[in-house]
Amino acid sequence: MTKYILALDQGTTSSRAILFDHAGHLHACAQGEFRQIFPQPGWVEHDANEIWASQLSVMRQVMHDSGVAASEVAAIGVANQRETTVLWDRATGVPVANAIVWQDRRNAAFCEQLLEEGKAELIQQKTGLVLDAYFSATKLKWLLDHVPGARARAERGELAFGTIDSWLIYKLSGAHLTDTSNASRTMLFNIYTQQWDADLLALLDIPASLLPQVVPSSGVAAHTHAELLGVSLPIAGIAGDQQGATFGQACLKPGMAKNTYGTGCFMLMNVGKKPLPSKNRLLSTVGWRLGDGPDSTDYLLEGSAFVAGAAVQWMRDGLGIIKHSSEVEALASSVPDTGGLVFVPAFAGLGAPYWDPYARGTLIGITRGTGKAHIARAALEGVAYQNVDVLSAMQKDAGIALSELRVDGGAARNDMLMQFQSDILNVPVVRPEVTETTALGAAYLAGLAVGFWSSLEEIAAQWRVARRFEPTMADDERLSRLHKWQRAVERSRDWSE
Ligand code: G3P
Repeated sequence: MTKYILALDQGTTSSRAILFDHAGHLHACAQGEFRQIFPQPGWVEHDANEIWASQLSVMRQVMHDSGVAASEVAAIGVANQRETTVLWDRATGVPVANAIVWQDRRNAAFCEQLLEEGKAELIQQKTGLVLDAYFSATKLKWLLDHVPGARARAERGELAFGTIDSWLIYKLSGAHLTDTSNASRTMLFNIYTQQWDADLLALLDIPASLLPQVVPSSGVAAHTHAELLGVSLPIAGIAGDQQGATFGQACLKPGMAKNTYGTGCFMLMNVGKKPLPSKNRLLSTVGWRLGDGPDSTDYLLEGSAFVAGAAVQWMRDGLGIIKHSSEVEALASSVPDTGGLVFVPAFAGLGAPYWDPYARGTLIGITRGTGKAHIARAALEGVAYQNVDVLSAMQKDAGIALSELRVDGGAARNDMLMQFQSDILNVPVVRPEVTETTALGAAYLAGLAVGFWSSLEEIAAQWRVARRFEPTMADDERLSRLHKWQRAVERSRDWSE
């Protein structure tokens, strides 16, 4: 009798492996970090082999430490950092270069050129995305154009492209595939036809032979090599991590939304069975496809801020004002306010709805009284402020007022931040019992495919609230704070060359 689903959550800074039981409870978890590579300002790379090694090691560790036998696992679900681009040799499995990470801005100037050539509209109409260096397409083109011999090898059919889901599944099983949610983040995928788009491939000069097969997010897609865990297991769920978290938060009906506080902050709202083109510079994206039938796809609207947990990491590793990320709440709470300090954490530019790759982090309002606690508090507030612009764009696009925002991710455990988030959004913020919703979403997608869970209703019934934060801030205070924040955002814009 199988008792568990094994979820792999390959994130920007760490790889996790989590076993979930039938009640959707976390049974065991293992986590490992891997190297972040910053070759130049604005560039971010990962070694794809290190990603694989860390993922395999935590998979093995969770099985070993929990004492669960691989034969007790019904299926594997994969959730992954999205857009990060890997190009590898089909025959040897060796990557031709480091993976280019979603945060990398090296193609900002090329995107501007495409914008000037008037291509943004075509791209948005087909992919639902705002033309930006964030997505995989220009990263893949960069690898083809800059890695010696890569383009010729690609044209001979020798290379394979994939986002991290494809890379892991290739290493796990030898299959070369991706799911619709990950494909929708490449800027090469038509979200209306759910096919790779020939016009976009031609525009960016990308050979179609590089591309993985696109499969549903829920369905047995491949089987793992038996030697990895002792038995071969079906890989039955695949989703980009933010879509996975939306599924794991059971945002299964139009109008339901979640915000994940990971490396960045990702707010996604279910908009139903058809894409909703944004008029406010948000992304329309595939949520998940549950099979091949009609109406099997749910679409989402998404707004992302590129920095959330990364601001806390910077205070730990860059400034050294905390030793562990968990200390930030106590430090920030040791002062009653920021003393007028505002922190715009635009380390990697500004995401939605600004899409300004040249913005940079700004700390404004420093006085002789400013101390590390004020900086910590301003950083947390900055993380929350970013979501106000995203939520207001989302409400305009969807034409609804949000009744609650479900939250998850590391920083969602921070009560001070969650209360401030509710205050500044003026919306109730709800934290569920299971905050590992990314992995849980991948587990649900896999479990549905193999009959471990029987229906969406069963999944929705497993979602339980742990704590609800109600807005308490007076309107005039909220509006005056938001006005100050907007002034600070303006000062952070268009800064780097
Ligand atoms: O789009 C990037 C996103 O998928 C990264 O998520 O959780 O690794 O910050 P995370």
